[in-house]
Amino acid sequence: MTGLQILGSGHGLPKRCVTNEDMAQIVDTNNEWITTRTGIEQRYFCSEEETCGQLAAQAAQQALQQANLSADQIGLIVAATFTSDYLTPSLACQVHQALGCTKPIPCMDVNAACTGFLYGLETARSLLMSGSANSEYALVIGAEGLSRVLDFTDRTSCVLFGDAAAAMVVRLADTPYSCILNASGDTTSLFANSLLPNQARFLQMDGKAIFRFAVDIIPKCLEQLLQKSGLTLEQIDHVVCHQANSRIIDHVVKKLGAPPTMFYKNMQRFGNTSAASIPLALDELLQNGTIRPGQKVVCIGFGAGLTWGACLLSF
Ligand code: ACO
Repeated sequence: MTGLQILGSGHGLPKRCVTNEDMAQIVDTNNEWITTRTGIEQRYFCSEEETCGQLAAQAAQQALQQANLSADQIGLIVAATFTSDYLTPSLACQVHQALGCTKPIPCMDVNAACTGFLYGLETARSLLMSGSANSEYALVIGAEGLSRVLDFTDRTSCVLFGDAAAAMVVRLADTPYSCILNASGDTTSLFANSLLPNQARFLQMDGKAIFRFAVDIIPKCLEQLLQKSGLTLEQIDHVVCHQANSRIIDHVVKKLGAPPTMFYKNMQRFGNTSAASIPLALDELLQNGTIRPGQKVVCIGFGAGLTWGACLLSF
């Protein structure tokens, strides 16, 4: 078995919803600029009491419940994040504790920015296949507390991001699955949370460069994945891109001549939640019944690093 089956999914969001009007109270911006340039209408930010670990644990609990599994049935936890509450212990270890797992299992974080969840899925699949997990079930989480690294004096970046977590319970299955992961060192386009002296701790981004990169890499990535899978775009039911900016997705749809409804968008409600964005979208599509049994879904991630990747999932 070399494919992956998703047995359950869930999400965790902070209580506080911050609209574009709210952002206009913080920086010199307005609803019109944010919605027309990005499609984003609101996002969620953690309060001082809320943590990325709590969001991740809430998402994990929901996913376990839906999979009808107890915490101790999980044999592996992989969490994708670059804005966890601590450098160590890992977010995956925090979730292990929060879920009340009583048995030791492999737990680790991966950092591939907005492509992180796809790196996490592939890491979990590889560990399941190698026999390194302690059971057939793995928990894969994408979670970010991005508001902690936003510069609330920089209107070009702080309006774009939000905090969230989403999780999937997966196991190996005999279903079509393909994955491509890539990265190419370019730390000028996005930089956050540096621990080096005299370097910005807050997120800094060359938005235009990332935009150009994204509209170029998404179609290439999709083509490469379809080729590897022996499929055509017509055989795919849904495409879930990283939810950075609706204009990026619109550009890609136009370039490919694909039906716009095939490419899911939910950044209007959550902003860019980096590693949480793809599983958050998948969770919505699963919960509202848009993804149905027998369907094929392609997920495409891109982000800081630079990193990019794509994954074919079958339901
Ligand atoms: N409100 C009002 N005006 C603004 C704002 C704002 N929030 N931000 C910028 N502006 C102004 C600028 O100052 C500029 O004004 P000027 O012409 O007087 O100088 C004008 O708007 C245009 O700014 P641009 O930067 O040219 O705007 P652009 O159309 O390129 O959109 C954006 C910027 C939205 C950031 C876009 O480039 C983008 O979405 N890039 C992709 C970002 C992304 O996808 N990041 C994902 C990676 S994240 C990760 O990996 C963790």
